[in-house]
Amino acid sequence: MPNIVVVGAQWGDEGKGKVVDLLAPCMDVVVRYQGGNNAGHTVVVGRDKFVLQTMPAGILHPSVRCVVGCGVVVDPASLIEEMESLVQRGVSLDGNLYISKNAHLIMPYHPALDRASESQAGRRRIGTTGKGVGPAYADKAARMGIRMADLLDEGLFREKLEANVFQKNRLLREIYDAETFTVEGILHTYLRYAGWLAPYITDTSLLLSRWIDAGKSVLFEGAQGTMLDLDHGTYPFITSSSTTAGGASTGTGVPPTKFDGVLGIAKAYCTRVGGGPFPTELGGELADLLRERGNEYGAVTGRQRRCGWADAIALRYAARINGFDTIALTKLDVLDTCETVKVCVGYRYRGDVLTDFPEEERLWREAEPVYEEMSGWQTETHGLRDESELPSKARAYLDRLSELVGVSFSLISTGAVRDETILVRDSILARWLPALRGLLPAH
Ligand code: IMP
Repeated sequence: MPNIVVVGAQWGDEGKGKVVDLLAPCMDVVVRYQGGNNAGHTVVVGRDKFVLQTMPAGILHPSVRCVVGCGVVVDPASLIEEMESLVQRGVSLDGNLYISKNAHLIMPYHPALDRASESQAGRRRIGTTGKGVGPAYADKAARMGIRMADLLDEGLFREKLEANVFQKNRLLREIYDAETFTVEGILHTYLRYAGWLAPYITDTSLLLSRWIDAGKSVLFEGAQGTMLDLDHGTYPFITSSSTTAGGASTGTGVPPTKFDGVLGIAKAYCTRVGGGPFPTELGGELADLLRERGNEYGAVTGRQRRCGWADAIALRYAARINGFDTIALTKLDVLDTCETVKVCVGYRYRGDVLTDFPEEERLWREAEPVYEEMSGWQTETHGLRDESELPSKARAYLDRLSELVGVSFSLISTGAVRDETILVRDSILARWLPALRGLLPAH
């Protein structure tokens, strides 16, 4: 059984939640490898909508074991709230949730620092989710972080907390003129969280290794997207974790030699939330049309997402960085009413046309996208389940985009609900997971 890494190919919000939920019944384990409660993975089951933040998107399937890997930063208050809400809605967490001892904690001073630094950043504001994810990863790299395992050792937890509160209070007071924290206040609350979470905290890399050796199949669930990666994204307008396929190894302790394939998730157009460069961004009516038809509002923050055309240059870059074997393309139906559809095939900068994604901030901002324009299909594709039903012009758009990116498409998503999905016959994904054919019988 294959081990598959699922990675966002753009700036996040590509529909990873739906795809992971769809593939989960064919897998034994789903493990989140990075990010925190900045993510909002939306899964629609019939009329029910679940927005999963720290919880792996396999959790709705009782037979699937879910793991929060060491690369994730966990806000315990948010995770416990998410767990309680899932239990209230009838989802069982007994024996199928495992949290890494090495995962770092988001502490109350992290969101405070996140908001304080954003409020002073002016034009260079990142537009973070304000959840404290960046400051938590900064502490991890600075060797100041507090891990899940520390939460279970009261003496050590207090010692680390004291050092942090001393340092963070000085920062908050003297640099940001913001409110400060007390050790006792945090200690009391976090020890309560420890009691709650203790049954789930374990050595997850050991478990994953044993399961893989026993022939179980693991899905590595990425959050955010390639262009938000700490190393490979549009730095500094990024999130602070390794969102790309390499992060699946460091964020779980599973070596890359155990991965069998990488599935990229991309929207048929493109969105971004927060600040930072977005070469194919649209304004005016077209942006509004995509936003309304695609319901492009943040699942976590409710913020309006910026909308634009698909960018084949950025997607080809994502394919290279992650080694996509195949792609699931989502939200095709959002483009149904467009008279024409465009794809970016190059960036014009000072007389040259670049066909590789550049690394300089100036180029991301100043280069003009060069588009290829195709006629729209102006036929409803919403809810289609069979390739043969696709209008020929939609087929032509998909073929051209796949050719430009250099990667085949295995899934085409035509709606938010699980089975509003086309599984491409003889595709790589259909070969990896033959059971998917049974889950998605075309009508
Ligand atoms: P942070 O992850 O909250 O630090 O935010 C850093 C950047 O990543 C901001 O531009 C956020 O809007 C963006 N971001 C973080 N999480 C997500 C996500 O799940 N989807 C889309 N963008 C995200």
